Order: sequence, then structure tokens, then C-alpha cells
Amino acid sequence: MPTDIHWWQRGAIYQIYPRSFADSNGDGIGDLPGITAHLDHIRSLGVEALWLSPFYPSPMADFGYDVADYTDVDPIFGTLADFDRLLEEAHSRDVRVVVDWVPNHSSDQHPWFIESRSSRDNPKRDWYVWRDAARSGGPPNRWQSAFQAVGPAWTFDETTRQYYLNSFTPQQPDLNWDNPEVEAAMHDVLRFWLDRGVDGFRMDVTQKIAKDPELRDNEPGLRHDEDWQPTIHHRIRRIRAVIDEYDDRMVVGEVYLRDLRRVVAYLNTGDELNLAHNFVFVHLPWHAGEMRASVDEFERLAEGAAWPAWFLANHDHPRVASRFEDEPGTGARRARVAAMLTVAMRGTPFVYQGEELGLPDAEIPPSRVVDVDGRDPERAPIPWRRPSEAGPGAGFTSGEPWLPLVAEAERLCVESQEEDPDSTLNFVRRLLRLRAERATLQGGSQRSLDAGPRLFCFMREGDERLLVALNFTSREAPLDLREEQGGRAAVELSTHPGRALSVVDLRDLVLEADEGMILRLS
Ligand code: NOJ
Ligand code: CA
Repeated sequence: MPTDIHWWQRGAIYQIYPRSFADSNGDGIGDLPGITAHLDHIRSLGVEALWLSPFYPSPMADFGYDVADYTDVDPIFGTLADFDRLLEEAHSRDVRVVVDWVPNHSSDQHPWFIESRSSRDNPKRDWYVWRDAARSGGPPNRWQSAFQAVGPAWTFDETTRQYYLNSFTPQQPDLNWDNPEVEAAMHDVLRFWLDRGVDGFRMDVTQKIAKDPELRDNEPGLRHDEDWQPTIHHRIRRIRAVIDEYDDRMVVGEVYLRDLRRVVAYLNTGDELNLAHNFVFVHLPWHAGEMRASVDEFERLAEGAAWPAWFLANHDHPRVASRFEDEPGTGARRARVAAMLTVAMRGTPFVYQGEELGLPDAEIPPSRVVDVDGRDPERAPIPWRRPSEAGPGAGFTSGEPWLPLVAEAERLCVESQEEDPDSTLNFVRRLLRLRAERATLQGGSQRSLDAGPRLFCFMREGDERLLVALNFTSREAPLDLREEQGGRAAVELSTHPGRALSVVDLRDLVLEADEGMILRLS
């Protein structure tokens, strides 16, 4: 069993969406001092690192993923001094800090783009992707924005009478990575934050930094607007080389491709990404067999090289407790099973803020909708305190929160869950502590076991043998193992508060509805 695993393999990485974490000054928007003030909460979870979604100066057309200055902090979030303080305070608690890096596009208010759009012969013209209209009029090709509401990925600019490419909103023009000056400038952004002491990066839309230079239309089975081969892999290698100029840092790519073979290609060579977010996994239905098949497929494709990363929620996808709820109550229970799944598997677990509370999505009335792509519900602010005592901002803010809070803030807030030993918060702490204490959960091998259609079961083996059994249905399910018949095992942890932590005979074990368990085999 490898004992020399890296910090980014050992334990969980906690994602913070700064706007919605904690507001320190009453303007209704979370900020860096708010995060610093709540680092003990993060420390209490037992995670290895936190990842901050963007806090850079931004007009907020895409809530920070439209960056107007890559090397500063938006005043709404604080100052560079606030960032340095957050970094120092996190490090003093043994929590590493990963920042978001958005290389595919900037804001249309970035000085580079303001120059680029000013004239056809501006020296920055070629820093973005400009083209004439198609011969028949209209956009240069049929590429579409990732956001359905936006439509074509091209915006006509009156000043110079050409179109520019925007893979997301028109306020997010795509940088031209075919221009070596752009690549060098973006490498310098990495060095700026590495010099400040960050431990790694989450790379936004990794797959889009190389596109067909001929801008051909997509064809069935072949996309020309992303994942362009082999250029993209050369570019990622050069990014990794910059990061490797520094000790013990990490880059996790958002590789939004729905084909595991292509995702693993960014990991297997060993000199590209350290980790990749797996969007095949995130889109799976709540089904034991499908989860198993996908996990096994990753393992097969990894050929012993790629290290997996597991997540089921982020700021772009409905929350687990809502997405997987099929009858009232199942969502909250499944949120715990989901946490156990991602934390107990071989690979790096990511926890999105609020998952430790089992938060569902918030209800967003039409008048409060702010996102172009329907992602407000999963971005609702964290309820820290009981609204009955702390007011309607639930300890997130003393002002008017920028998005409504979840309906059940009174019951689901951190304060209420602290006091209840059976809460999801305390369950997630136990789960992460188990991972932190057990080398087998960190670096041990993993293989799937046949255990009947309702369960996803796998064995982690290292200096001990741990069996993880997860019931993906809302009915009881006997542990129907083909092997380990009659073995005895100690229950280390269950998602169900009522389950006794005792020694059981595996032959007699029946999992309750929506229950997950970790057992140590004797
Ligand atoms: C992925 C980010 O997670 C999402 O929030 C954003 O809208 C797009 N990339 C564009 O930057
Ligand atoms: Ca604030």
C-alpha cells in the first residue's frame, strides 16, 4: 500500500462558493473575511483543503467566472490583504487552499478585451477570437454557448464589425490560446498566486482551452469547439510544468466531458492534471449498478495510473438531497449515503459547502432569479444560526441575502446540527475523521463486490480490510455477498443513527432503506 500519497489524495477538498458562505459586513454577499471567520467550522470537518470559487474583480455577469483582473480581489469580497490573511489562517489550521483559475475566457471588462475590441489593429486584437460574419451573414459558424439561454457562441461587435467567440455569456469572451502571448500571460497568473502561497488550482472548463483553429462545425462524434487533439494535451503539460516549478502543489481540472476515456487521457500520462472532476459520475442516476459500472470503468481505464476524484455536487448542479429525492425524506438520507460513497472510495472526495448539512436546493421565486442558467437553487447561502434567534439572514448576513435561504434553515443550520449528535453535520465529521485515521481508506486498493441489485458494495484493502455497503434503494436489502460468506465484521460507521456499532455476522446483515455502512472485517 502506498504510504507516500500526497495531501490532495489523502482527504477531502471542501468547495467554498464565496458569495454564499458568510457575509462579514452586512451587504448580503459572502466575502473573504467571512470565510476566515468560519475557518474553525471547516477545520472541524477534517478536510485537507478548501477550494475557493472565484473572488477576483468581476462585473459578476457569471458571478465571478467573468474575471476582469486575474491578480486582485473584487471589493465585494475584500482585498488582497484579506486573501493573505485567509491563506495564513487556513494554513495555521493545516487546511490547504486551492483557488479557481479561469483561463478559457475573461470578462468583457478586462483591460485586455477592452483593448482588443477597440480596433482591428490593436496589439491585443489577437488575444481573443475575432472573425468576420459567415458569407451568408450571421455568426462565423454554428458553435453554441454552453448556456442554452445564450444560444450562438458568437457576439457581433459594432465597433470593428466582427464577431467574437463566447463559449458562455457574451460578457465572457474566449481568450485565444493559439496566441503564445495569451498562454504566457495566463502562466504568469498561476505564478502570481503560487508566489502568494496557494496550494493549487481548480482549472475552469479545462477542455475548452484548445479548439479547432479552423473553427469547423461540430460533427456527430467529433467536437471542434473543445478538447482539440493533440494541442490540448500539450497546453496542459505546459501548465503543469509551471505548477511543478513549486513544491507539492496540485491542479484539478474541471474536464466537462461525458466520456471517461477522454477524461482519463488528462490524467494517465502523469504530467498533465493531478485530478479531474468526473462529470460522467455526476450525471448518473441514483442506481447501485450504474454507479458500480462507472466506478469500475474508471478503474479499468486508469490502468493503475490516474488517481480518481469523486464529487456529486457543486455550484452548477442541483444538490444531492433534492436531486435524488423520490419520496419525502429519501433525499436527506441519500445525501448521507452519497457522502459515504465519495469519501470511502479510493480517490479524492470533494465536498460542496452545505453538503455537510445535507442541504437541499432553495426555492427561488421568479422575481429573485439571478443566474442565466438556472443555478440559483444550489447557490443559496449557508444557514449558520437559527433564524428565530439570529434573524432572517440566519447568521449568514445581518442584511438582505443576495439569494433566498433554504426553507428549513431553522432545523438545518449549523447551530441546530451542532447540538444534535445524530445530525448530518456530525455524521459527516465522523465519516471524514474515519478517512483521516485510516490509511486503508486513503491509499488502499478497491474492488467492487457482487451483493445483489440494490447494493453497491466494495472492499478497501490495505493494512486492514474495510467493506463499504451502500443501499441505493428505499427498501431493506440483505447483504447478499458471493464471497465473505459467514465472515464477521465490526460496524465502524452507518448513515443511520440507530445502527449499533457492534460485531455482526455478514450472513445476517440487512441494510435498512437508504442506509450505507463501513465495516471492518476480522
Ligand atoms: C464552470 C463553472 O463552474 C461555472 O460556474 C461557470 O459558469 C463556467 N465554468 C464558465 O466559467
Ligand atoms: Ca459582504
